[in-house]
Amino acid sequence: MKEHFKRILYTQEQIEARCKELAQWVNETYKDSDDLILIGLLKGSVPFMAQLIKDVTVVHDLDFLTVSSYEGGTTSNGAPKIVMDLANDVTGRDVLIVEDIVDTGRTLKIIKELIHTRNPKSIKVLTLLDKKEGRVVDFKVDKFGFDIPNVFIAGFGLDVNGKLRNLPYIGEFDTKYLDKY
Ligand code: IMP
Ligand code: MG
Repeated sequence: MKEHFKRILYTQEQIEARCKELAQWVNETYKDSDDLILIGLLKGSVPFMAQLIKDVTVVHDLDFLTVSSYEGGTTSNGAPKIVMDLANDVTGRDVLIVEDIVDTGRTLKIIKELIHTRNPKSIKVLTLLDKKEGRVVDFKVDKFGFDIPNVFIAGFGLDVNGKLRNLPYIGEFDTKYLDKY
């Protein structure tokens, strides 16, 4: 597995340490909230969400949203669509969207706008990884874990053809091994 990576960007230890800091940010940001809901985007946010909430002490609900992804890593076919909607109503609640990575910004811009139409009290976005150079739409996250270069990465939620989300580290994937997955 590791031989299919050009380099490891973040080890399990580094990721876990950063997740603890991000949980403290959540605790501080929402210390006065009495109705927080964390919304993860499936499937990439699963490892991050699971690690994060271990250290979130603010009482909260958890929900997930599945959004269709565009094929082949390009953005040509436009707007992502909702494949599985939230189970919860977010009206009047503090919503924190939790995502693995923001690249072009298209997915989160649209999801944030959609959730906004449901009249939450507030909406913020927390992403583990921010690939700022990849942005094609104007979108800023409220908090990120690591600022990463514009390279293809995998592990800790990020996939290669749907695989390798389980890896406990994050690395730059060597695309010459794409056909292995
Ligand atoms: P965007 O910000 O709308 O471009 O979409 C971000 C989504 O693209 C993420 O949720 C990932 O599923 C995917 N993505 C972006 N960059 C990478 C990468 O380097 N490796 C794997 N998936 C990625
Ligand atoms: Mg994703």
